[in-house]
Amino acid sequence: MKASAEAIPSARTAEFSQASGEQIPARLRPPLKWAGGKRWLVPHVLVLWRPHSRRRLVEPFCGGLAVTFGLMPKQALLNDINPHVLNFYRWLKRGLTISLPMANDERLYYRHRERFNRLLEQGKGDGAEAAGLFYYLNRTGYNGLCRFNSKGLFNVPFGRYSRITYIRDFTAYQALFANWQLIQTDFEAIPLEREDFIYADPPYDVEFRHYSKQGFSWEGQVRAARWLARHDGPVVLSNQATDRIVELYESLGFNLKYLEAPRLINCTGDRTPAREVLATRNLQAAL
Ligand SMILES: C[S@@+](CC[C@H](N)C(=O)[O-])C[C@H]1O[C@@H](n2cnc3c(N)ncnc32)[C@H](O)[C@@H]1O
Repeated sequence: MKASAEAIPSARTAEFSQASGEQIPARLRPPLKWAGGKRWLVPHVLVLWRPHSRRRLVEPFCGGLAVTFGLMPKQALLNDINPHVLNFYRWLKRGLTISLPMANDERLYYRHRERFNRLLEQGKGDGAEAAGLFYYLNRTGYNGLCRFNSKGLFNVPFGRYSRITYIRDFTAYQALFANWQLIQTDFEAIPLEREDFIYADPPYDVEFRHYSKQGFSWEGQVRAARWLARHDGPVVLSNQATDRIVELYESLGFNLKYLEAPRLINCTGDRTPAREVLATRNLQAAL
């Protein structure tokens, strides 16, 4: 299986622009690949966000941060239940540089996967080494998947890309993350403020998806939708437009708009177009 290579620019060579008084590279991209990443959705969310851009952005299911990087909020609260992705972002905030060997090589991949799993077993999953290994495994593994076995060990196979560009020096990301608060918890435990603008992208409503050890059940979909429906500020919610999701969001009073997702990556790597729903609430809330 060959997946197309995705080149990412070096953070060191990115152009710099003045944003909120700080030196922030103008073309920094999300550093991770993420299953269910919503880069394609950014233009649709951007028009909804612009009138509210002075608010804090909250992403309860931030994953690969495609939307946050698209909106570039001054203030953000970014959460995901996945401890490894959050550990990586915490290290970006501290100024990460990676010194371990990185190459698109199958033997090296399995050696690094083994080392990453040893660190997890030793309770060292929150260190800079684990963050560097996580980045390498994410870029080099199959489809950027983040999957663990029943013992909690990372088990994604080698990705077989034709070419991969790795970043070693992430210090350019530091200024960007400076005003972005990071937390790793279940979405319902997020300390929301009334004025927050929420963009929520829960795992798709499909049975084969398991992002965390616990997976995300139908009960999770209902819990997330009800939690979002209680928020006083603006809410934008995206999901796959299955019949029961549409029924759920309509029953809670969301306004619905349908979009054609360019592709959906499932766990076998099959890519099939999917209908997406964009559900919104309180977008007219006072600015
Ligand atoms: C569809 S992905 C988000 C992708 C992201 N919007 C992007 O563009 O990269 C859904 C995310 O929800 C996270 N997640 C699953 N269950 C969660 C929970 N109970 N609380 C918070 N996050 C959860 C997963 O780890 C996953 O990263």
